[in-house]
Amino acid sequence: MSRQILLTGGGGFIGSNLVPALLDRGDRVRVLDNFSTGNRANLAPYLDDVEVVEGELRSYERVHAAVRGAELVFHLGALGSVPRSVQDPLTSNAVNVDGTLNVLLAARDEGVRRVVFASSSSVYGSGGELPRRESMPPDPISPYGVAKLAAERYCVSFSRVYESFETVVLRYFNVFGPNQDPRSQYAAVVPLFVTAVAAGEPVTIFGDGEQSRDFTYVANVVEASLLAGDAPGVSGRIFNVAAGTPESVNTLAGTIGSILGRPVERRYLPPRPGDVRDSWADVSAARSVLGYEPRVGLEDGLRLVVDSLLSRP
Ligand SMILES: NC(=O)c1ccc[n+]([C@@H]2O[C@H](COP(=O)([O-])OP(=O)(O)OC[C@H]3O[C@@H](n4cnc5c(N)ncnc54)[C@H](O)[C@@H]3O)[C@@H](O)[C@H]2O)c1
Repeated sequence: MSRQILLTGGGGFIGSNLVPALLDRGDRVRVLDNFSTGNRANLAPYLDDVEVVEGELRSYERVHAAVRGAELVFHLGALGSVPRSVQDPLTSNAVNVDGTLNVLLAARDEGVRRVVFASSSSVYGSGGELPRRESMPPDPISPYGVAKLAAERYCVSFSRVYESFETVVLRYFNVFGPNQDPRSQYAAVVPLFVTAVAAGEPVTIFGDGEQSRDFTYVANVVEASLLAGDAPGVSGRIFNVAAGTPESVNTLAGTIGSILGRPVERRYLPPRPGDVRDSWADVSAARSVLGYEPRVGLEDGLRLVVDSLLSRP
C-alpha cells in the first residue's frame, strides 16, 4: 500500500522539487503551506495527485489536522533568508521555532514514524574549521541560524524523550535549482545572478565576492531527503547536505556569465549583517550513513537553472 506523506512548505522552492520525487515512488502526498513565500504555481503540474492544505505552521490545530494519517513528515515549511530574520526576528522565531514545535508535537500525537527536518548551514556561523562537520559546536550569527538551531535541538530532543518517535535533521547548504524565485525581496543569489546577467544588468555582490559557498543543486537535496526518510538507525542524527565543494561568489558570477555567453558586470556593496564569510561542508557522514552522493555538480546544475528560468513565461 502507498504511504501517506506530509510535506510542509511543499509550495516552496525545495518542497515543490520533492513533490514529484515522492509521487514517482508511489507515495500519497499532502502539502501544508500558507503560500507566504511559496507559490501555488509550483504545484500546478501535480494538483491532480497532491492534497493541498492551506494553513499556518503557527497554528497547532491546523498542523495537527494536516499531520493526521501521515507515516512520514518532511518539515520544510519555514521563513527562510538571513536578511529577513535580521529585519524581523520575532516572526522568524515564531514560524521557524514554534512552527517546528507544532509539527513535532502533532507528529508525536498522531504516531508519525519519522520527521525529517530541513535545517541550515547557517547554524555553524563564521568561526571554526572548514569544511563544516556535524560534530563542530554550532555558533550561529543570524536570528535565522539561531531559530534553525533551536528547531534542530527540539527534533533531537523529541527523538530522545519520546519512545519510538524518530527525527532526522538535514543541514542544507545554499540550495539552488528550478522554482527558486528571483523576484522576491529576499531572493537567493543564483536566480538573482542568472536573471541579471541574462538581462544585461549588473550583479550585486555583498563584500569582496571571495566568500565561499557550497552551492548545492536541488536534486541532490531531494535525494538526501528521501534517503533520510527511510534509512535505518539514524534517529536523532544530524547530516550536512551539500555538494561538498567550495566556490566563491565571484566564481559563481563568472560561471553564469560563461554559460549564458554574456559579460558579467559586478557591483560591490558592503557585506550584509548576519552573513557568514565561508561556508562549505564535509558530507562524508551523509555519504557513509545515508548512501548520499551529490550527483549534479555546480555547472550542470546552473545550466538546468538557466534553461528553466529562461523558459518561464
Ligand atoms: N534554499 C536554501 O538554500 C536553503 C538552505 C538551507 C535550509 N533551507 C531550508 O529548506 C526549507 C525550504 O526552503 P526553500 O528554499 O524551499 O524556501 P521557500 O521559502 O521557497 O519554501 C518555504 C515554504 O514554507 C512556506 N511557509 C512559510 N511560512 C509558513 C507558515 N507560517 N505556515 C505555513 N507555511 C509556511 C512558504 O510559503 C514556502 O512555500 C526551509 O526550511 C529552509 O529554511 C533552505
